[in-house]
Amino acid sequence: MNANTSDASRREFLQKSMLATAGLLTPLPLTVLGAPKAKRRVAMVGTGHRGTDMYGKDLLAEHGDVIEFVGLCDSNKGRLETAKKMMGVNCPTFTDFEQMMRKTKPEILIVTTVDNTHDEFIIKGMEMGANIVSEKPMTTDETKCQAILDAEKRTGKKVTVTFNYRYSPHRQKMYDLIRQGEIGTVTSVDFHWYLDNRHGADYFRRWHRLTEKSGSLWVHKASHHFDLLNWWLESEPETVYAKGALENYGKNGPFRFTNCRPCPHKDKCPYYWDMTKDARLMALYAANEQYDGYHRDGCVYKEDVNIYDKMAATIGYANGVQVSYSLTAYSPYEGYRIAFNGTKGRIDAWIKESGAMKKEPYDEIMLSRNFGKVEYFQVPQAEGHGGGDKLLRAQIFRHPEAPDTYRQAAGSRDGAMAILVGVAARKSIASGQAIRIADLTNLKPVAVKA
Ligand SMILES: NC(=O)c1ccc[n+]([C@@H]2O[C@H](COP(=O)([O-])OP(=O)(O)OC[C@H]3O[C@@H](n4cnc5c(N)ncnc54)[C@H](O)[C@@H]3O)[C@@H](O)[C@H]2O)c1
Repeated sequence: MNANTSDASRREFLQKSMLATAGLLTPLPLTVLGAPKAKRRVAMVGTGHRGTDMYGKDLLAEHGDVIEFVGLCDSNKGRLETAKKMMGVNCPTFTDFEQMMRKTKPEILIVTTVDNTHDEFIIKGMEMGANIVSEKPMTTDETKCQAILDAEKRTGKKVTVTFNYRYSPHRQKMYDLIRQGEIGTVTSVDFHWYLDNRHGADYFRRWHRLTEKSGSLWVHKASHHFDLLNWWLESEPETVYAKGALENYGKNGPFRFTNCRPCPHKDKCPYYWDMTKDARLMALYAANEQYDGYHRDGCVYKEDVNIYDKMAATIGYANGVQVSYSLTAYSPYEGYRIAFNGTKGRIDAWIKESGAMKKEPYDEIMLSRNFGKVEYFQVPQAEGHGGGDKLLRAQIFRHPEAPDTYRQAAGSRDGAMAILVGVAARKSIASGQAIRIADLTNLKPVAVKA
C-alpha cells in the first residue's frame, strides 16, 4: 500500500467512524463514503400513504442521486397512477407484481402493502432476484414468518425490516444509558403505550381493524414496541402471557355507518372525521374507491372490527428481564411511559406526542441512581417518527455499508422476534396459557445478540 492509499484508507476509516458515532444523525456528503457508480434500481409494491411519502417523495428528495425507481406496483390502478404523479417519477407502473419484477429487475424491492400480504412479495421478490426493504410488521403470523426465513436462506437474498422507532434520538439516549451501565443490570421494564382518540381511532377506520389483515394491534402496532424492547435489552423474548378486549370501538358503538363522509350520525359521533379537508388523502383514497371499494374514513363502530383496543402482556426475556407491557387505543393523549429497573437504579421517561397537557420541545429522560443523585437528560424532538424516518432512509439507501454502532439496521430475525411476541399474545388470549416463542418457528431465543 503506498502512502496515498494508506492516507485515503485512514481518511475513509475516520469518516466511517464519524458516521457511526453520529449514529447517522447528519447524513454525510456523498464524497465522504464515495458515491455508488450507478444509481440503485428500486421498485415498490404498495403505493399508499407510507409508500408514496416515506419511500417515495422523501426518499427521492434526499437520495435521488443514489437511487432510481424502475417500477411501481399496486392492486388499485387508480392509486398507482396518483402515486406516480405524487412521487414525480416516470417509471412504468404495474398491477401484476411478477410482471413488474420480470420487466424491471430491481436490485431493491420496497414492500409497503397491507401487512398480511408482505410475505407474498418478500418471498417472490427474493426469488425473482431482489433484496427486500419491508415495512414493519414483517408479516402477521408464525407460518408466514417461517416461510420468509426459509426463503431468505434458500435464495441468499436479504430482508431488511424498517424499524424506524430505533433511530429516534431519545430512544438512542436510553440505549446509551443502559449500555453504559448507569443502572447496572436491567431486571425489569414497565412499558405502557397510549394511542389517542385521533390516531388510535384511525386504526379502527382502516384495514387495520381486521386481524386477518393487520395481525391486530398486537402485531401491526405493538411489534414496533416489542422490537424496541428486544433492541434495548439486547435479548430475545422467551414467553408471553396476555390479556385483551375490544370495549370501545366496533360493536360497542351506539350507531354505525359505512364511512364518515356520507354518515347520518356525524353530528353526534365523537369519532366523526372529515377527510375532505385533506387533499392528499382525498386524491390517494377517495378518488380511487371505485377500483376496490376501500374507505379510508371507514366507521370505527363497524360490526366487523375484530382487533383488541386494550391489551396487556407479561413478557419474559431470555436474559431474565421481565416486562410489563400495555397498549390502550382510546386515550385522551398519545405517547408512552417507560421505566427500566436495574440493580443500580432506574431510567424513567414519559414521552408526550399529542394531547392537551403541557408539552416541552424536548423529550426528557430521568436517571435515578440507588442511594445517589438524579440526573435529567433533555433530547430535542424531531419530525417524522421522532426523527427516525430520515435517519433510517440515510442508513438503508445511502450508507448501507457504514458501521452500525447502534445496531439500528434490522434483519429478518429482528422482524420475526418483534412479530412473534404479538402472535404469542394473540395465542395466549385465545388459550389462556403462556406461550413459548420457541414453539412458534424454528428460531430459538438467545440472550445476547451478535
Ligand atoms: N414504520 C411506520 O412508522 C409505518 C407507518 C405507516 C405505515 N407503515 C406500514 O406501511 C405499510 C403500508 O401502510 P399504509 O399506511 O401506506 O397503508 P395504505 O393502505 O395506505 O397502503 C397500502 C397499499 O397496498 C396496496 N395493496 C394492498 N394489497 C395489495 C396487493 N395484494 N398487491 C398490491 N398492492 C396491494 C393498497 O392498494 C394500498 O395502496 C403497512 O405495512 C404499514 O404497517 C409503517
